[in-house]
Amino acid sequence: MNEPTSEPINELRFMSDSEGATESIGAALAASLNAWDFVALYGGLGAGKTAFCRGIVSALGSGDCASPTFTIVREYPTNPPVFHFDAYRLSGEAELYDMGCEEYFSRPGIVLMEWPERVQGVLPDSRIAVEIDGSGEQPRSIRILNLSNSAYAAIKEAAREYIVD
Ligand SMILES: Nc1ncnc2c1ncn2[C@@H]1O[C@H](COP(=O)(O)OP(=O)(O)O)[C@@H](O)[C@H]1O
Ligand SMILES: [Mg+2]
Repeated sequence: MNEPTSEPINELRFMSDSEGATESIGAALAASLNAWDFVALYGGLGAGKTAFCRGIVSALGSGDCASPTFTIVREYPTNPPVFHFDAYRLSGEAELYDMGCEEYFSRPGIVLMEWPERVQGVLPDSRIAVEIDGSGEQPRSIRILNLSNSAYAAIKEAAREYIVD
C-alpha cells in the first residue's frame, strides 16, 4: 500500500540503479529535514527503505545506521536526533504505543518510519512520504511526496542526476 494521497503535493521522482544512489537521494532529502518532521517510507522487503534512511542519517553526521527491525526503533545522535522506526514486526499501532513511541514523538527530532502502513493510526497528517518500487537487482523508482516548496527546489537541485521527469 502506498501513501493514500490523491493529489500529491510537490512530488519528485527519481531512478536509482544502486544502493549508493538510493543513499544519495536520502542524503539530498536530509538537508531539508527539520526537528518534528515525519518521513513515512513505503516499499516492499528489500526495496531500499533502510538504505534511504542510512543516507539521511549519514548526511546528518552519524555512521552505523542499520535496520531497526528487531529493536523497532534506533535513535541516532544527530542534530536534530533521528528516531528510526521499523514497524515490520508490529501487528498494529497498539504495539508501537506499548514500546513507548510517544516518548520519541514528544521530543524534537526527525522520525523515519519504515512500514508506516502497519501503524496508520500514529501517522501525522502532515508528513513526507517516500515510496520505493523495485527489488533485487532492478533499478528502484523512488518518489518523494508532500515536500515544502523550498525542500522541493533544494532536493531537485541536490539530487538532479537521479531525477526522472
Ligand atoms: N537501487 C538500489 N537501491 C537500494 N538498494 C538496492 C538497490 N539495488 C540493490 N539494492 C539492494 O537491495 C537491498 C535493500 O535493502 P534494505 O535497504 O534493507 O531494504 P528495506 O529496508 O526496504 O527492506 C540491499 O541489499 C541493497 O544492496
Ligand atoms: Mg528496512
